[in-house]
Order: sequence, then C-alpha cells, then structure tokens
Amino acid sequence: MNVDIGNALGSVASPGISRAALEHLDEQVADAHERIERGMANGEHGYEALNLPERTDPDKIRAAVEPVADCDALVTVGIGGSALGAATIVDALEERGDGTETVFLDNVDPEWVTAHLEALPLEATAINVVSRSGTTAETLANFLVVREAFESAGVDWTERTIVTTGESGPLRDLVDRHDLPSLTVPDGVPGRYAALSAVGLVAAAVCGHDLEAILEGAAAERETLSGSLFDCPAYAYGATAYALDQRGAGTNAMVPYAESLETYAEWFAQLWAESLGKDDLGQTPVRALGVTDQHSQLQLYRAGPRDKLVTFVRPLEAPDREIPATEVDDLSYLGDATLGELLDAEFEATEASLAAASRPNVRIELECVDADEIGSLLYGMEAACVLAGELYGVDTFEQPAVEWAKKATRGLLGGGEFEEANAVTEKTTLR
Ligand code: PA5
Repeated sequence: MNVDIGNALGSVASPGISRAALEHLDEQVADAHERIERGMANGEHGYEALNLPERTDPDKIRAAVEPVADCDALVTVGIGGSALGAATIVDALEERGDGTETVFLDNVDPEWVTAHLEALPLEATAINVVSRSGTTAETLANFLVVREAFESAGVDWTERTIVTTGESGPLRDLVDRHDLPSLTVPDGVPGRYAALSAVGLVAAAVCGHDLEAILEGAAAERETLSGSLFDCPAYAYGATAYALDQRGAGTNAMVPYAESLETYAEWFAQLWAESLGKDDLGQTPVRALGVTDQHSQLQLYRAGPRDKLVTFVRPLEAPDREIPATEVDDLSYLGDATLGELLDAEFEATEASLAAASRPNVRIELECVDADEIGSLLYGMEAACVLAGELYGVDTFEQPAVEWAKKATRGLLGGGEFEEANAVTEKTTLR
C-alpha cells in the first residue's frame, strides 16, 4: 500500500503537522519501532500478531476446511475480532471467490438471526465458529441456535462445523465432545489482530481464496517496517493520525472508494477504537463509503468542526463499466464516460474539496482489490495501529472495557458471579 500524507501537512491543513514536527516525531517512531521489533522477536503478547505472515500455515487451514469445501454457503459465528477480519477478506474478494454465499452471525438480534437461518440452504451450509476465549456469550448462543436449526432440519451439524478457538474453554469442550475439526488461535494474538491467522482465513479458504497471496501481501508490508516514518507507509499513517489527534483531529473518518472495502472500514473502526481508546486517549473512528457518503457526511467533513482526519482508501485499478449514451444533451458528458471514471472524478473532487478547505486528509492507495493487496492493507493498518499505540503510550493489546461488558452480561444471565453485573443491577435499582 502507498500512503500519501501531503494533505495533512501544516502548510496546507488545519489542524496539520509541520515537516519539522514530523521529523521530531520520527525520533519517537524510531524508539517505538525498536520496541515493536523486540516484541515481535520475543513473541510478546500482541506484537506476535505482526509475525503472522510467516507463522500462519495455509495448508493446515485448507486441510481443516476440506470436509466442507464443497458447501454452497458458509455461516460464520463470531463477533468483533473473531468476525470482522474474515468478513473484510471475503467481502473484499467476493467477486474473485468460488461463489460460496457467506453470512456472518455476530449480532444476537433474534429476528435477524432467524431470518438468516431461514434463508440458508442448511443441507449445503457449513458452520465456521470462531472465539478466541471460547466463552463469548453472543458467539456461544448463536452457535447453539445454529446447531439446533441444523438438527431440526435433519442435517448433521457435526459433519459441517469447523471451530477456531483457544486451547481450552467451553468451545474447546464442545470440540472434544463432538470430535469436531478445529484450529487453534495462535498464542499472543489478540482478536482484532487475528485476521491473518485461522481466525480470518478459514472463511477465505472455504470461499476458495488464495491464502498464500494474502499472506505474501502482508509479508511484503512487514518488510517495509523500519525506524523512520519517512520510509514506512504503515508508520507514516500511524504517526500522522496520532499527531493530528494531538492537534485536535479527534475523529478519523475512514472512507474507502470501493463497495468491496466497506467492511474493511468496519474492521478498521474496531482496530482503532479498541486498541487506542484508553486512559482518556484515542481517536474516534468513523465508517463512511465513497461515493455514497459524499451525499451525507461530506458537508460536515468540509465545513464542520476542525476536529477530523479523513482517510481515503483507493484502489487504482478496478473492473469498469461504460455509461450508455443518452438522447438528452445535458447528459451527454455521462455517455462519454465510464462508471469507473465517474468514481475517480468523485474521489478527486472530494479530496480536492477537503484540501481547498484546509481539512487534513490522507490517501491510501492499493494497486487493486485482490488477495495480495488485502493482505498488505490489513497488515499495514495493524502495524500503523501498533505504532500509534506506542506513541500514545497505551496498552494497545488489551480491551478491559470490552471484557467488563462481557462479564456483566454473563453475570446478569446467571453465568457466574461477576461484580460487574452487580454494578449494572445497582444502577438499575437507583433509577
Ligand atoms: O479484539 C478483541 O479482542 C475482541 O473484539 C474479541 O475479538 C471479541 O470480543 C470476541 O472475543 P472472542 O474471540 O473471545 O469470542
């Protein structure tokens, strides 16, 4: 991936960062890079995720999915980091896959879950259950519901299920009890950094995607990590986003200009929010989509409070389609163009309009949306986030607020004694 921070510089943007300030920040980037490299070399918790391009074994993943390789549909049951990486990859590469229909059950909205299950051809559907802890209530509940739906339809779910989880826990118990094919979430890899492991790649394998190409793209990005933000696209992004936040851009709007990357913006939002939102620090990620949100959010980005960074992601090449000629003179300019040219013009116009209003924006370019480039994008943004976490000085790889809510939920449902649940009960009583 290429990162262009030109429109975030202090000479053209407000808030912006001056070249001198970037050079000063680069000293901190060098120190942070040393810590990151050390963490990777020692396989420390979190940093280990940046070793995944070399550690993940695509053959092992393909062997695990072999029994369900001919399925027509795949339902993935997982949430947060156990769903968004897989969803990003299969949504981005959908046009290049083998046509397997994919459904992601993360929410536990009963109407929505029921509608999905009723629409699926269960006798030709495989189940991909993913939970690092193996205890997440939403995932376990949805798995039990899916399992029952299969049983009611007379389909043997044990022959159609693959589980990815930790070495122990309730989900691992189910694996052992029913002798299910399973993969293990690698040690030291937090959920939202697990897209390049079995957590994100089982779904891609079932859909026939090129796992080696995804990992090669990530490995190429890993090669660019260096002690200077001026030599490393991922660090240039992480450092710029951090510096702009320090100068007042507390919101980061992620705007891919490709429908296939809409889910990527969701993945990024989790990565950025859950990793950096600590100790009263962090930058609030917002999900948007070009060109659609030009007609809803752009007004605010160009003329609202000067508290935002807009991050564009743009594939340079994509399939195109001509716009048919028309009998109306005023529309003849459209008949001379293609939809791709219109999309490009919209992108250029939006970027220029923000720059003209001195609103900081960064452009991330991919050659195209393919397996290699998706691997590069996911790895690059993970490295950017790890670097930003070092600069903020936060505990990037923990998510205590998420864990608090998980315990409170379990406690409220009678799943154990958790003081977090008492806090909820007390609050309710006071009202
Ligand atoms: O990034 C994280 O750690 C979280 O978003 C988790 O992935 C999410 O809470 C799901 O957890 P688990 O994989 O344990 O079910």
